[in-house]
Amino acid sequence: MYWLTAIVRPFKLSDVYERLLSDGVGGMTVTEVKGFGNQRADTEIYRGNAYTSRFVPKVKIELAVSEKDLERVVESIVESSQTGSPGDGKIFVYKLEQALRIRTGEVDLEAI
Ligand SMILES: Nc1ncnc2c1ncn2[C@@H]1O[C@H](COP(=O)(O)OP(=O)(O)OP(=O)(O)O)[C@@H](O)[C@H]1O
Ligand SMILES: [Mg+2]
Repeated sequence: MYWLTAIVRPFKLSDVYERLLSDGVGGMTVTEVKGFGNQRADTEIYRGNAYTSRFVPKVKIELAVSEKDLERVVESIVESSQTGSPGDGKIFVYKLEQALRIRTGEVDLEAI
């Protein structure tokens, strides 16, 4: 199992959501975040304006996926969030040790 963290543009969230839903993912966690990448925030365009803060608003999407689904889910996130301009975001992949559904006690693949 793997844990994916994807930092994407806020306006792309619904596209990513629709795509992952059609991929049949078991769930996801979404958080409003802010950050900066290579260009730093002060040169990034956000909603048509050059951004003047140190940090640009982004959305963090997190989800647990099976090894079998990993490649497809990563591809789906890229395809549904890419604009081709700086600031499209990043995907980080971690190995996931355990998952547990609290209601039933199911673990790992049965829990995600
Ligand atoms: N090395 C990093 N560690 C943690 N978060 C990062 C890192 N790089 C980028 N991020 C997060 O992703 C967001 C988008 O980064 P961004 O897409 O601008 O990266 P980049 O490396 O500058 O790539 P690009 O050249 O395509 O803009 C940042 O605002 C930040 O929240
Ligand atoms: Mg950047």
